[in-house]
Amino acid sequence: MYKIITIIGARPQIIKAAALSRVIREHYSDKIKEIIVHTGQHYDENMSQVFFNELQIPKPDYNLNVGSNTHGKQTAQMIEKIEEVLMHENPDGMVIYGDTNSTLAGAIAAVKLLVPVFHVEAGLRSYNKTMPEEINRIMADHASTLLFCPTQQAVKNLEKEGFKLHLHYCDINHPKVILSGDVMYDNSLHFSQVAEQKSNVLKKLNLEEKEFILCTIHRNNNTDEKERLNSIFRALLEIAKEQIIVLPLHPRTRKMLPIQLNQDLYQSVSSCKDLLITEPVSFLDMTLLEKHCRMIITDSGGVQKEAYFFKKPCIVLRPETEWVELLDTGTTLLADADYDKILAAYSTLQNVSIEKFLPFYGDGNAAKKVAQEILDYCFSKKD
Ligand code: UD1
Ligand code: UDP
Repeated sequence: MYKIITIIGARPQIIKAAALSRVIREHYSDKIKEIIVHTGQHYDENMSQVFFNELQIPKPDYNLNVGSNTHGKQTAQMIEKIEEVLMHENPDGMVIYGDTNSTLAGAIAAVKLLVPVFHVEAGLRSYNKTMPEEINRIMADHASTLLFCPTQQAVKNLEKEGFKLHLHYCDINHPKVILSGDVMYDNSLHFSQVAEQKSNVLKKLNLEEKEFILCTIHRNNNTDEKERLNSIFRALLEIAKEQIIVLPLHPRTRKMLPIQLNQDLYQSVSSCKDLLITEPVSFLDMTLLEKHCRMIITDSGGVQKEAYFFKKPCIVLRPETEWVELLDTGTTLLADADYDKILAAYSTLQNVSIEKFLPFYGDGNAAKKVAQEILDYCFSKKD
């Protein structure tokens, strides 16, 4: 039996972890023991616990309760506490997901103790180092031994940074790059039907199918830069004159709205009945909203891909994206936080042909590939 530590902390990592935990439970429970460590980066009920209940993720074995803080303090506390867990558990490897501070902390703590790091969602690059996530991704990739790439583009990005492909031997000095597909796609396929049966979010919010737009906003530059947040909300109010917008709001954005929006705009946003601001929703509710909306407007990495999985046009509120293949299809447009670009994209994306949604993200079995590669690696290092 091999012992693997999984690090989670922020909402998208908890969701991503559901796919691999499910595969381990169903196919590898006699070979892999997974120990889940929650850093506590996200801690509100609707940013954390709700996903454990709904997606049947095992209760974390450790909760480090790190909470919110400046990047340095938050990451440092995580490193210190993860190191303690690693020294106590002495695992065969560590799985990290994505590009958050929890990802970075896990990578640093493990690599220094010579615990092999397995990075799920490796190789993504926005080529914008002002994003905290870009720094986290680069550093996590360069501390990893197995790099699980969701797309061919991610493999190419790593090759450009000097990673060798098709190695026959692998260790920290010879990291292995694997095209696994995207565990988020596994999840969307798996939970799509479950959401139809279990979520009543459309009824609860009084929404008609295809008669609403789904929106999420939480990127730090959008919430923290006044001009950007004002521009986004002015555009949303304009679009809401035509189409109801549902906006499950990240706590970071919720806190910044009254501080950053001009007073008149804040009043208009608060009183607009067609801009429906809600608390963050559960994954099953989110999946149903994505499946049945008309269009998605988002600055989220995960949500722009889920838009694509469910064949929905998407406006991305960022200057660039690491999911570049989406842009080539014409189903996804970058509008930055620019009022005119957002409205132009809204107009361009009114009629997008369903044929444009080509498959890029694997076959829904990414987590199985990840588990098998981890097992093969651990077996090869047995002696
Ligand atoms: C983090 C990730 C980001 C990811 C996002 C997913 C980093 C650097 N950023 O951003 O890549 O896209 O998670 O959602 O790791 N807060 C609460 N309750 C919570 C969690 C956060 O109120 O449960 C508020 C706090 O005011 C906190 C702020 O949100 O200061 C930001 O939280 P933090 O985890 O630092 O970053 P996110 O913006 O959530
Ligand atoms: N999500 C959710 N409820 C919400 C908003 C998002 O369940 O109210 C899910 C979404 O479906 C996706 C993930 O959270 O699976 C994306 O996380 P987020 O946007 O917070 O982070 P990012 O992907 O940008 O890192």
